[in-house]
Amino acid sequence: MESKQTSIMQKEIFEEPAVIKKLTETYITPDGEINIDLPEKISNIVIVASGSSYNCAAIASPLVIEYADIPCDCEYSSEFVLQKKHFVTPDSLYIFVSQSGETSDTLNAIKAIKKEGVKTLCITNAKDSSMWKLCDYQILSDAGEEKSIASTKALCAQIFCSILVILKILSQRGADISGQINTMRRLCTYLERIIMDSDKIKDAAKTVAKYENISILGNKNYYPVAKEGALKMKETCYLNVMAYPFGEFMHGHVAVLNQTSIVIAIIDEENAAFAQRNLEKIRKNYNPKIVCITSVQEVKAGDINIYIKTKRKTKAIFGSLLTLQLIACTMAGILDKNPDSPKGLTKVVKD
Ligand code: AGP
Repeated sequence: MESKQTSIMQKEIFEEPAVIKKLTETYITPDGEINIDLPEKISNIVIVASGSSYNCAAIASPLVIEYADIPCDCEYSSEFVLQKKHFVTPDSLYIFVSQSGETSDTLNAIKAIKKEGVKTLCITNAKDSSMWKLCDYQILSDAGEEKSIASTKALCAQIFCSILVILKILSQRGADISGQINTMRRLCTYLERIIMDSDKIKDAAKTVAKYENISILGNKNYYPVAKEGALKMKETCYLNVMAYPFGEFMHGHVAVLNQTSIVIAIIDEENAAFAQRNLEKIRKNYNPKIVCITSVQEVKAGDINIYIKTKRKTKAIFGSLLTLQLIACTMAGILDKNPDSPKGLTKVVKD
């Protein structure tokens, strides 16, 4: 990639396929069983986390609703602790996601909800951390030590583990999950291919790095992916990058665009027609530079189109996330910023 010397962040991004391979081997048995512990009955799920881990929660939440057919909300830990009332039934499951297992906001959220006697599960990269010990159920996201302050491989592992939770719920109900298991098993190779074939990603990073007014657009699960891309660019390049749900962007926010802005649009099969229609309007009215990250080969709406070809939504989520991580990391190199130790930030945010 473009950075003058390899950063820890880049090294950790490059480890993502291996992390996924290890998690697949650990948690999916050769017979296609999901090897994690969950309560047998779950009426609803609430996922609580901060920062990148929150973006995992926001990516997973609509997937829980769509695939497991269970009500699911996601909340920022810092907001959760301020809330006076939480919706709890005897079969509610509260899931806490954290790379470190020590973030104060998330720890405080666990302590608050435990008073209500609710079942808790943590997805964390730190076995025996405070969260691990506090929760009733645990899943080790096992990404290996993450040194870079900007979380990358740990988030990738968290999303994978969140999908395992959905598959486990489905298998507990006797559903056939063999198709989804195959998709998960192929994920490692898919991500390897994106990393190997990164010329377009480098081109995009070179272009995006010239702009200060950057908007990233995505629908549904891709909106939190867009937010994560924005967070990575904020942390490593100190740019005020904004993420928006695509449709919502057209309700006024679009007015921030002009010829000195750049739009990054995440497009999959579900939103392709809608996204392309809106990008046409955006081009006509504001003429910004446009980069598309798309799983659909036919999409040519951008000045640069990065193809992350797949028909599977889960793969496209990982593919678009990896692409944005690589763009942010490469931009930091181009802008001569050290992405590993951003100013004023610490790896674990404590009170
Ligand atoms: C991510 O790049 C950030 N460094 C930060 O948002 C982080 O994800 C957040 O502080 C939560 O940390 P945790 O996952 O260790 O709880």
